[in-house]
Amino acid sequence: MTCTYVITGASRGLGFEFIKQVSAQGHTVISLARNPDASENLQKLVDSKKVFAFKLDVLNKESIKLQKKKLIYTHVNEAASEGIDCLINNAGIIGDRECDILNTPGEEYLEVFNTNVVAVSNITQAFLPLLRKRGQERPKKVLNISSLLGSISSFSPWRPDCTDATYLVSKCALDMLTKIFSNKLACENFIVYAANPGWVKTDMGGEEAPIEACDSISDMLKVFDNVSAEQSGALIDSDGQIISW
Ligand SMILES: NC(=O)c1ccc[n+]([C@@H]2O[C@H](COP(=O)([O-])OP(=O)(O)OC[C@H]3O[C@@H](n4cnc5c(N)ncnc54)[C@H](OP(=O)(O)O)[C@@H]3O)[C@@H](O)[C@H]2O)c1
Repeated sequence: MTCTYVITGASRGLGFEFIKQVSAQGHTVISLARNPDASENLQKLVDSKKVFAFKLDVLNKESIKLQKKKLIYTHVNEAASEGIDCLINNAGIIGDRECDILNTPGEEYLEVFNTNVVAVSNITQAFLPLLRKRGQERPKKVLNISSLLGSISSFSPWRPDCTDATYLVSKCALDMLTKIFSNKLACENFIVYAANPGWVKTDMGGEEAPIEACDSISDMLKVFDNVSAEQSGALIDSDGQIISW
């Protein structure tokens, strides 16, 4: 069965790899990126039949409203006018990696929190009507890309300096946001969960990361295809195991 996906942060890294693999499976993909025209790789995939690209800055409420209107009320995308099956909140930032916990400015927390948490809430709210259009019969899925780094129980003394506290705090909050959305939407046959992609070679992960983006995404998509209602709300690793918060 083919589905319609909406994926944020589609210009590069894990977001782009999601678009590539999901579209190769024959699904319809609505790729959202701050500047889709600037992503050559994304443009190569766009055919405006099964793969679409629209401009969306997840921090820009007007941009979210506009895309929502376009997708719901116009015929820009006929596939989306029938509703969507899956939303992948992938866009994220790591912030200033040089900030020691003892002198991280408050604004730094706000910037990272706004992208990694508040925007996920705003995007999910905005796309709920399109997800609901699919009815109650089959599950609608929302995947929030989180990180093992947000897990308090996995935090260890090997990171005494913790120069990326804002990122860790934001992903921890994202896991709670995920759990709350999951509880709220369970009665409407939604599965909402968070995933840890592993440490992946992207602009964010860096060259020394041990995992290739293609492997991380194929693992996460296997989990995505098989995730159950019982796992809704959890933080799930790329091998399908639940990670304790
Ligand atoms: N790589 C890893 O090792 C790793 C590990 C754990 C979790 N993650 C998570 O995985 C997700 C993707 O990370 P990545 O490694 O692919 O990072 P990346 O290579 O830095 O890519 C980040 C993506 O997010 C987009 N983005 C950032 N702010 C945005 C905004 N305001 N509006 C729209 N798009 C925005 C970027 O778009 P632009 O091109 O416009 O900047 C880009 O497409 C993130 O949520 C990250 O926290 C990554």
